[in-house]
Amino acid sequence: MKLDITTNEDLRRAMILFYDIIKEDKMISPFFVGDNNFFDWNKHIQLMTSFWQNVLFFTGDFEGSPLETHKRVHQKMTTQPIHFERWLDIFNHVLDTYYEGENVEKMKSHAKAIAKVMQTQIF
Ligand code: HEM
Repeated sequence: MKLDITTNEDLRRAMILFYDIIKEDKMISPFFVGDNNFFDWNKHIQLMTSFWQNVLFFTGDFEGSPLETHKRVHQKMTTQPIHFERWLDIFNHVLDTYYEGENVEKMKSHAKAIAKVMQTQIF
């Protein structure tokens, strides 16, 4: 039986599962490039866990600005609608494979809404 995402540990595990696939994805992984070609996945996973904690549990401690970050990502390498579709497909697939419940649905619809806003602001 699949369970909902209800704790910080669930979120962290979900992010690890999601980025394990992103890292290997030919279409999306090239966007993750840090200085000297080192991208700090642990730091990113921690940041994304805190982003989703904020969404689900209103922790208020996420200090990023996704829109500005993605404008920067887009300037380095053009993000197109097909990339957002792919990102969302992987996200939904991972969540649906391992979890089910109200919070999972909330995460999927939130990610979809953010992807839409990002695209209208970026393109
Ligand atoms: C085309 C699809 C996407 C690509 C290629 C992408 C790529 C990236 C990259 C490379 C970063 C890290 C940038 C850095 O640390 O320098 C990042 C950060 C982030 N992404 Fe995405 N992303 C995509 C879609 C999304 C979507 C749909 C969401 C919605 C939840 C999202 C949420 C975030 C958040 C919250 C951060 C951290 C923002 C910050 O540090 O201020 N991304 N993304």
